[in-house]
Amino acid sequence: MTREKNEVIGNYEVVDGVLTTRREVLVMGALAAGALTGTAALAQNVKTAAAGAPAVDKGEIKEMDFSGLLTKKMEGLSSNQIDQHLKLYKGYVTKHKEITALLDNPDLTAQLPAPNATYAPLRELLIEQSFALNGVVYHELYFGNLGGEGGDPKGNLKSAIEAHFGSSAKFMDFLKASGKCMRGWVIVGWNTRDQRIHTYGLDMHNMWSPAGVIPLVVLDVYEHAYMIDHGINRAAYLDAFVKNLDWDVCGKRFDAIAKA
Ligand SMILES: [Fe+2]
Repeated sequence: MTREKNEVIGNYEVVDGVLTTRREVLVMGALAAGALTGTAALAQNVKTAAAGAPAVDKGEIKEMDFSGLLTKKMEGLSSNQIDQHLKLYKGYVTKHKEITALLDNPDLTAQLPAPNATYAPLRELLIEQSFALNGVVYHELYFGNLGGEGGDPKGNLKSAIEAHFGSSAKFMDFLKASGKCMRGWVIVGWNTRDQRIHTYGLDMHNMWSPAGVIPLVVLDVYEHAYMIDHGINRAAYLDAFVKNLDWDVCGKRFDAIAKA
C-alpha cells in the first residue's frame, strides 16, 4: 500500500516516507479495539468462567473494579500494597487496548518494516499483545481470589484437591513451594484435555502459559506483589496469600467447569 510522504498512523507516523514511532502517546479514539482475536476470545471465556466476573466485554477488554480489596483488612497485605498492584493491572488494560488498536489497523501493518523472527515491529506487537492480555486476565483472577478467609478448600474443589494432593495441607505446602520456584505466576488449574488438576509455573505473563487450562487458584509471585509489605521475604508473602485466599471464589470456578 502506498503511503503519503507524511502521515500519522496510530502511534506511528510516516516522515518523508519512513515509518517512525511518535514521541507522544495519542488518545486512541477512533482507533479503539475492533474484533477480538482468537487468543483474546479464549481469555474472555476463561474470564467468564471466573466466579463473579462481569459479562464479556464485547470488542474491548475493560478494567474490572477491585477497589473493595482496599478496605478489607487482609493480614500481611496492606491497602497500599494492593493499591500499587492495582495500578499495574490498570496499565496492562491500557496497553492491551493500545496494542490491539495497532494490530487492528491494516494501514499500519501494511507500513511496518519487513517481518522477521529476530526483530520486527510486528513481532514486537504480537509478543507484547499476549504479555498485556495475560497481564490483565491473570491479575483479574488473582485479585478475584483474594479477600477471603483462607483456611481449607471447600466443597467439590476440596474433594478434588485432596484426591490429587492427598490432603489440603499437602496442597498448601506444594503451592508455597511452587511459589518460591517461579518468577511470575503459579496457576493451579483444570486441564480440559486430561480432565484433571495441574499446577503450572510461569516466569512472565506470557512465558509458559498453559493452553486449554481453566485457572482455579492464581498466585502472583512477581516481586511487585509483595515488596512493599515484605521486602524480599517471599515466604512471608506466601503465608499472607494463603491466609487471604478466597476459597468460595475458587470453589465457584471449579463448580462452573462441572456445569459447563
Ligand atoms: Fe502482579
